[in-house]
Amino acid sequence: MTAVSDARLLEVRDLSRRFGGGRTLFGVKKPQLTAVGALSLDLQKGETLGIVGESGCGKSTLARLLVGLDRPSAGTIRLDGEDLAAAGRRAVAAKVQYVFQDPVSSLNPRHTIRAILEAPMRHLLGLGKAERARRLDQLIEDVNLRPEFLERYPHEFSGGQAQRIGIARALAADPDVVVLDEPVSALDVSVQAQVLNLLERLKRERGLTYVFISHDLAVVESVSTRVAVMYFGALVETAPARAIFAAPRHPYTRLLIDSAQIPGRQRAPKSGGSGELPDPYNPPPGCAFAPRCSRAEEICGEAMPGLEARSGDSQHHVACFNPIPLAAHS
Ligand SMILES: Nc1ncnc2c1ncn2[C@@H]1O[C@H](COP(=O)(O)OP(=O)(O)O)[C@@H](O)[C@H]1O
Ligand code: SF4
Ligand SMILES: [Mg+2]
Repeated sequence: MTAVSDARLLEVRDLSRRFGGGRTLFGVKKPQLTAVGALSLDLQKGETLGIVGESGCGKSTLARLLVGLDRPSAGTIRLDGEDLAAAGRRAVAAKVQYVFQDPVSSLNPRHTIRAILEAPMRHLLGLGKAERARRLDQLIEDVNLRPEFLERYPHEFSGGQAQRIGIARALAADPDVVVLDEPVSALDVSVQAQVLNLLERLKRERGLTYVFISHDLAVVESVSTRVAVMYFGALVETAPARAIFAAPRHPYTRLLIDSAQIPGRQRAPKSGGSGELPDPYNPPPGCAFAPRCSRAEEICGEAMPGLEARSGDSQHHVACFNPIPLAAHS
C-alpha cells in the first residue's frame, strides 16, 4: 500500500498491447499491430477520467487491460501501489469493476438477475446468505430496479434496464474503481441521460472513481472531471475537463471539438471509415497524426512527441511538437 497522502488509485506506465506477430508453422512472419503503445496515465481517487477517441484507437483494449481481463505486452499497471499482474484476477476484481457497451449480451442469458448479482458477492467478497440478501435489496433499490426483477432473465429487459443491471453487477463487489467502456453508446438518447444521472449519483453516494470511455465527446464532456484524448493507441492530450474544452492544445483534440459542434450534424465525431486512422499494420514514422495535421513540421514525420506539460500549466499535458498556442484561445 502507498502512503495515505498518495491519492493515485491506478498508475499506468509505458503500457503496450500488441496483437498478432510471431511466425506461422512455416516460418512466415505474421503481421502485428500495436493497439495500445507505451501509454502512461494516473487515476486520482474521486475523479471521473474521460477517455475519448475515434473507434479503433485502442480504448477497449486499454479498458480490458485496466480491469485485468487482458495482459499487457509490456509496461505496468499498479493498483493502490501493487502490480496488477502480481495481484491476481480476484484481488483486482474486488477493487476494479467494469461496465461494457452492450448491456444485454454482457449478462449471462441463462442466469436470473439474482444469480448474476449474487455471484460477485459470493466469489469476490465471500458473503453469507443473509448478508447477500441484505446487500441485494439495497443494490436493486440503488439502481432503480424493482425487487421482482431479481427472478427474471436478462432477455426480458430493455437496453436501459439491462445496463442498470450491468451497473449493479459492477457495484455488487463494492469496488473502488469502475471502468465504463461506452456505457451509454448502445442506448437511446433519452435513456442515456437517465443512466448518466444514475452513474453520477452512485459515484457520489459510494465515493467511486470512474474511468469513462466513449467516442462521443459531448458525453465525455458532460461527465468528466479530467479528460484524456486518445489517438492511434496513445494519449495525445490530458487536462482538467474545463481546460481541455476551453483551450485544446493538440490539433487532434481541436478537430474532435470542431466536428462535435457543427450544427445539424451528429455530435459524435464520425470515424469516417478506415481512411482516417493510419493503417495499424503500417504505422507512419513520427507523430501518428501528421498525415492529417495542418500544423505539421519537419520533425513531426521523424520523431514521436512525448506527452508533457508544454506550457505553464502542470495539469495540462500534450503530445505535440507544435501545439496550438494558448494565445490562440484568448
Ligand atoms: N483481439 C484482437 N486481435 C487483433 N486485433 C485487435 C484485437 N482487439 C483489438 N484489436 C485491434 O486493436 C485496435 C484497437 O481496438 P479497440 O481497442 O477495440 O479500439 P476502440 O475500443 O477504441 O474502438 C484496432 O485496430 C483493433 O482492430
Ligand atoms: S506533433 Fe506535429 S504532426 Fe503531430 S499533432 Fe503536433 S504539429 Fe501535428
Ligand atoms: Mg471500443
